[in-house]
Parts: sequence; structure tokens; C-alpha cells
Amino acid sequence: MEALTTAGGVLMIATAGYQAMMLLYRVVVRRVRTSRLDGEFLRLLRDLSTSATSYNKSLEQNNRPAWQGARKFQIAWRGYETPDKDTCSFYLVPSDRKSIPTFKPGQFLTFELDIPGQTQKTMRCYSLSDSPSHQEFYRITVKRMRTPANAPQGTRPGLSSSHFHEDMQVGDVVDVHAPSGSFCLDQNSNRPVVLVAGGVGITPLLSMLNTLIASGSKREIWLFYGVTNRLDHAMYDHLQSVNREMPNLNVVTFYCNPRRTCRMGTDYDIEGFVRVECMKPLLRARNYEFYVCGPPPMMKTIVTDLQKWGVPLEDIQTESFGSASKPANAKSEVADGGNAKQKVAITFSKSNKTVEWTPGKGSLLELAESAGIRARFACRAGVCGTCVTALLEGQVKYDQPPTKVPAEGHCLLCVAQPKTDLTLEL
Ligand SMILES: Cc1cc2nc3c(=O)[nH]c(=O)nc-3n(C[C@H](O)[C@H](O)[C@H](O)COP(=O)(O)OP(=O)(O)OC[C@H]3O[C@@H](n4cnc5c(N)ncnc54)[C@H](O)[C@@H]3O)c2cc1C
Ligand code: FES
Repeated sequence: MEALTTAGGVLMIATAGYQAMMLLYRVVVRRVRTSRLDGEFLRLLRDLSTSATSYNKSLEQNNRPAWQGARKFQIAWRGYETPDKDTCSFYLVPSDRKSIPTFKPGQFLTFELDIPGQTQKTMRCYSLSDSPSHQEFYRITVKRMRTPANAPQGTRPGLSSSHFHEDMQVGDVVDVHAPSGSFCLDQNSNRPVVLVAGGVGITPLLSMLNTLIASGSKREIWLFYGVTNRLDHAMYDHLQSVNREMPNLNVVTFYCNPRRTCRMGTDYDIEGFVRVECMKPLLRARNYEFYVCGPPPMMKTIVTDLQKWGVPLEDIQTESFGSASKPANAKSEVADGGNAKQKVAITFSKSNKTVEWTPGKGSLLELAESAGIRARFACRAGVCGTCVTALLEGQVKYDQPPTKVPAEGHCLLCVAQPKTDLTLEL
């Protein structure tokens, strides 16, 4: 009997070991197929595979971050995802080589960056762009933000994205906050799914798509993906191959400005922007879960048109990447909503300043910045919680309820406007 129990135990350990090895093998083979990996990354994956077996479930599932504050991660590999080399993926492994918690497909990481020439840390959010089934690394995919053509002379290109593209090399270490965000695939649902992506908005949707693929989901899946043309068409080989291999997946690609060399029917399917009128004949029914991520104007049009078509709002989830740097001379157009007095006084208690706010002055974050008061921020969209500040006196309001709900007695400066005179702990 004892011999049998021992033999059973040995068999279980051997099976677990074999499964771990096969998992690692599949991860590596898949990555080697889709990307050019260097030996260092492969070695790191091998080291990490031992800790992956003891991997934790994310505490974010209980609405608490999986770790507090920043944790150090090392860049294990980086590689371009588009022919124009403006979109680059970064594979991150923990510097302590311990396990990393899982995340929900669609969530993002917040980075605290030391950028040369900046006197304080720059914080930015980047979506996790692969499925959580890879327990050894996190992947983000960053698009380099160039200076807009109509920007005032001397405007610098995107601060953080340029830093990632130009400075961040394999082996560099970066401070990362735990996965967060509520724009997540409902993994318990069996309903058909529609993913709608504009430009780099593909990243959280790619995580959702790869999760569905990794789980062998039989759900009907549509990906409507809009880019300019083949030059900024990200993850081309991967999307082509999964579209070929998965009978329940349909990828429909839109090029708004195809070049002569772009092949309709091979590289892309429809000319123009992603639009609901092109989805209707393909989907035929409206009973899908919709996940939409892209530039704000695209999202506004898509959501409005989906609603006009009769899709209930609760079936549409959205995320906008917003604009992290708000040009100092650009004031938000703020609807007063009839709630705010025309003029209110905002006291920043720690800075010992009181400033007048009128609706044209935008969010409390913009007001603080224009008064020369430094406030922490990352997303400027009410998503990440970085700008949370104690509200000592008064009341605020939000045009849209923020995704990240602040604790009682606090507010999110980036999306809050005053309802009354305020005192903020800043
Ligand atoms: C939840 C979330 C997830 C995200 N996921 C991703 C992702 O997966 N991949 C990704 O690439 N991005 C993602 N983003 C966006 C990302 O966080 C950054 O906003 C983006 O990289 C731009 O930051 P930056 O520092 O490079 O540019 P910034 O320095 O913030 O500048 C943005 C743009 O404004 C221009 N600009 C700056 N100052 C002025 C001025 N005075 N006048 C006119 N123009 C000006 C810059 O030239 C640049 O084009 C995400 C954002 C959020 C909120
Ligand atoms: S900066 Fe992200 S919530 Fe305000």
C-alpha cells in the first residue's frame, strides 16, 4: 500500500513536471514562430519557468492591486510589430525573478519612468497586449507618438513613448505598478464577441483575443481592426495566421489610406474607417458583447452607431487611451451641466494656494497645472487612479462616472470638476 502511494506521488510530480515543461515549450515555440527572439530571453524564460509553477492569483480580483506601489521589471526582449517601426513590443520579467500575478485580459500596467531631462517621474499606462496564459512575462506594445503636424513649433514628440522606443533596451529596469483596469473580457460568458480596434487600441483587444484562442474558446469572435495602411498594421502575421486557423474567428481589417502596394483581400478587407454600417451585414444580429478601444472620435461614432442599431449600452465596453500630455494652451470644453456655480474657489492646502475655477478651466488637474502646482497623473482619463487626492471640503462632479472609483472623501483630479468651493489636499 505504502509503495503504491509513493508510486502515485512520484507519478503526480512527474506529470506536473512534464506539463510545466510542455507549457514552457509551447510558449517558446509560439514566440519563436512569431518573433525573432534572442538567446538571453530564452534563458530568462527557462529560469522563470520554475517560479511560474508557484504563480499567484491576482489580488486585483478582490479589487486590490496584486502588489502595492512600484515593482522592478527588466526588459527581456523588444521587437517591432509594424513595418514603419513605430509600434514596438516590450517583454517584461520581474527583476527579483519571482512569480508574477495573472491579470484580466484588457487590463493595463502603469509605469513610473525616469526620463532624462525630466525633473520628476513620468507616469503612463500601457495595456497588457498578450494573454495572461504566459506566466513568465508581461508584454506591452507601445506606439511612438510623433509631434502632430498642427502642433505649435518646438512641440516635442511623445515623452514616454519616445523614451521606450529610443532609450529602453534589453536588460534595462523599469518601475511598474500592478495590473489594473475594468475594461476586461468577460471570461465566464459564452456569448459571441465583437472586438473593435482603432490603431494602437488593438493592444487590450489582442490580449482578449489571445485569451480566447489560448482557452480554445468556441465563441463566435469578430475582430474589426482599423489602421492607416500596411505600414502601421500591427501583428500582421499573427492575425493572419489565427484568422486562417480558427474557424470561429473572423478578422476584418480596414485601411483608411491604403498605398498602391497594399493588397485588398489579402492585407486588408475594407477601405475607410471602421464603421458600424460595414459590421451590420457581417454580424446580422445584435446579440454580441462589444469591446471597443481606439481614438476618442472613433469610439464616439462607433458607440453612437451601435446604440442606433439597437445594441444595449450594457453590451458595449469601451476604453480610450486619452491624451496623457494635455497641451498647456488647450482648454477642455467643459459642459457645466447646470450644477457648478459659474465661479468657485479651489484651495490647494499643501501648496497654500487658492485659485478661481470657471467652467472653461477644465478639470481640477488642469487647474492645478495652470497654477504651477505639481500633481501626479498617468492616464488623464479617470482610469488609473494615479491622480487621486483627498477632498477636505466641498463637492465635485464627473461628466462620466470614472472607471476607477475613488475612495470616500477623495476625488480624481483628471476628470473631476467642482460643484462647490473646494479644499484639496495638494
Ligand atoms: C488605460 C490606457 C492604456 C493604454 N495603452 C496603451 C498601449 O497599449 N499602447 C500605447 O502605445 N499607448 C497606450 N496608452 C497611451 C499611453 O499611456 C500614452 O498616453 C501614450 O504613449 C502617449 O504618451 P507620451 O508620453 O509618449 O506622449 P505625450 O508626451 O503625452 O504627448 C502626447 C502627444 O501630444 C503631443 N504634444 C505634447 N505637447 C503638446 C503641445 N503643447 N501641443 C500639441 N501637442 C502636444 C506630443 O507630440 C504627442 O504626439 C494607454 C493609455 C491608457 C490610459
Ligand atoms: S490620471 Fe489616471 S485617474 Fe487621473
